[in-house]
Parts: sequence; structure tokens; C-alpha cells
Amino acid sequence: MPPEERFVSPSVTIDDAEVERSLRPRELGDFPGQERVKENLKIAIEAAKQREDALDHLLLYGPPGLGKTTLANIVANEMGVAIRTTSGPAIERPGDLAAILTNLKQHDILFIDEIHRLARTVEEILYPAMEDFALDLVIGKGPGARSVRLAMPKFTLVGATTRYAMISPPLRDRFGSVYRLEFYDAPTLAVIVKRSALILGVPLPDEAALEIARRSRGTPRIANRILRRVRDYAQVRAGGDITLESTRAAMELLEVDELGLDETDRAVLRCVIEKFGGGPVGLETIAASISEESDTIMDVYEPFLLQLGFLQRTPRGRVATPAAYRHLGIPFADDQQPAPQRALWDAESDA
Ligand SMILES: Nc1ncnc2c1ncn2[C@@H]1O[C@H](COP(=O)(O)OP(=O)(O)OP(=O)(O)O)[C@@H](O)[C@H]1O
Ligand SMILES: [Mg+2]
Repeated sequence: MPPEERFVSPSVTIDDAEVERSLRPRELGDFPGQERVKENLKIAIEAAKQREDALDHLLLYGPPGLGKTTLANIVANEMGVAIRTTSGPAIERPGDLAAILTNLKQHDILFIDEIHRLARTVEEILYPAMEDFALDLVIGKGPGARSVRLAMPKFTLVGATTRYAMISPPLRDRFGSVYRLEFYDAPTLAVIVKRSALILGVPLPDEAALEIARRSRGTPRIANRILRRVRDYAQVRAGGDITLESTRAAMELLEVDELGLDETDRAVLRCVIEKFGGGPVGLETIAASISEESDTIMDVYEPFLLQLGFLQRTPRGRVATPAAYRHLGIPFADDQQPAPQRALWDAESDA
């Protein structure tokens, strides 16, 4: 399947982006799930508003499609401030960031997506900006060069990343709060997909919503994508109405199994089990042997396989668990691999 047709695809097509915008909640009260993060944000927002102050710098991390960008926009909306959005790779030189910073207004939010991909020299501009709301600029060149410090308005940096471990400690330390977004449970995803169906004007019975929810890998973006494909299927093949049966038939056609795994997930598991005796095997090796980008496996596929308990990370590589064998219907022999419970959990070791 071409990457843009996969549900779990990391790439967001133009069509996707438009629908995503229309489905994006605008307020915390309209954002189901992530209760702990929301509760903390609510308190922080209310406190900052009472003090008429800017919100503390905020770092959101977690797998793609769980709502980092959405939350950044909600925070700006709830604070009643403007949000300026950019991304790590988009800021090439320190001067680019300095220009963005000097254009911010008091208490504005600067949202930097993929913040782990900021260049080192750019990142260094951020340190005094975040800490002292100051810009250190070097004027001139050579022996005559001197550094001047410019004050800038107090602002809030909101950073987002799928790779917490790749953020440098000095940058990490400058965030007042750091939240990890978790995968959503099925009942919460059912609420999200019902909400989306309402916005899209698609009647969606509860049992179909729950079926979509169960197969969405804990991810709202995927749930919304599946909803659209299920709608298409119902329209063309099932007389228009979405039912549990037409939902299941659509999923089957798309090769999304009852846990939401697609052919790439299964290829990863099968590779570990069949080619490497259940592991341990390095991620790069898995990637090469199934012709997939290792970054894509690490960011997009692996987190959910870890969450399901189908894969484990160990210092020596990935190990498939008995549950993975069971899911693929492959007999599991104890002597094929070290017992998974002995494998050291080392989640961030090579992130
Ligand atoms: N809790 C939620 N309730 C309703 N919709 C949600 C929720 N979380 C995410 N979504 C929807 O899922 C889609 C993806 O969310 P978003 O773009 O915020 O994810 P992200 O974490 O920024 O992903 P990435 O890492 O790829 O940038 C959006 O359409 C968004 O509205
Ligand atoms: Mg995002």
C-alpha cells in the first residue's frame, strides 16, 4: 500500500490536514481523554490568568496523532493569546528564530513542533529567551564583534515532540511543565469518533463507533481516518448507512485487524519472530529487512506494539513476546528466546 493510504501513516496529506483542522477541538472541555494532562493544564491556565501572567513553558510529547498540536492550540485559545506555529526543521539559522521571537507580543504562544530537530545553534538562542526573556545577539564580526542583550516580551514556548529522549537536557530543563500524552482507551476513542461523525454529518451507530475505536491503535487521528474510509465503504458498497457489519467489512478490505494492526505491524512482528528467532534484534536490522524507515518504525509502529505488550525493548534489541506469537498464530516454544520477563525494560535506550 502506498504510504499515504495507510492508516498509521505518519504523513498527513493535504486532504487529511483540512479534515483534521475541521475536527480539532477548540476548548479543553471539548477534548475527550488525557484527563491528567487536562486537569494540570486547567489549573495552570487559571492561575496564569489570575496573575495576568504568561503560562509557563510547556513541553508535550508522545506518539503521533494523540493531540499535541491540538492541545497547543487549545491552550492559546483558553489563554486568549495568539499562537505562532513553526517547527524544528523549519528554523534553519539563529537569525530566523530571533526574528520570530522579536515579533511575538506579550504572553503570546510560540509553538515549535518537532522541537527535537532544532539545530544546536538555534537552540542556544532559546535558552536566554526562555529563561530571561532576552535575546543575545552578536553584532559585527571578528575581534570587533560584541554581544548585546535585547529584552523581549514575556512569552510561552510550547514544544511538541515524538522523541522525548532526543531533546537536550538544557532545553528540557527550561520547560516549566512536561506532559506525556498516552494512547486513548476504546471508550474514549468512541466518544471522539462520534463527535467527528457529528461534525462530518455522518450517522454512526454506537456499536460501529466502538468497533472503529477498538481498531484505531489508541490514536484519534487514526480513528478519524478510519471513520472516513468506513463512510466511503458504506456509501459505495453497503447502501449508505454505516453499520457494524459494513464497518467490519471495510476494515477487512483495508487489512486492519481486530487490534488495529496493519500489514506493516505484522511485518515487524513476523520479522522478529521468523527471521530472528523472536529476538533480540536491533531496530535498524528490522527496518532493513522489511524495507521500512527505521524512524517510522520507531515513531509510528513500535510505540503501539510496545503498548500492546507484543514487543519489548531490551539493551540488545527488540524481543517478541508470547502474546505476539499468539496474535499471529505462530506456536511459541519456550526455548526459542530468553523469557521476556527477564528482558530489561529500557524504553528510552535508543530513542
Ligand atoms: N482528544 C482528542 N479529541 C478529539 N480529537 C482529537 C483528540 N486528540 C487528537 N484529536 C484529533 O486527531 C487529529 C490529530 O491530532 P494532532 O494533530 O493534535 O496530533 P499530534 O499529537 O500533534 O500529532 P503529530 O505528532 O503527528 O504532530 C486532529 O484532527 C485532532 O483533532
Ligand atoms: Mg502535531
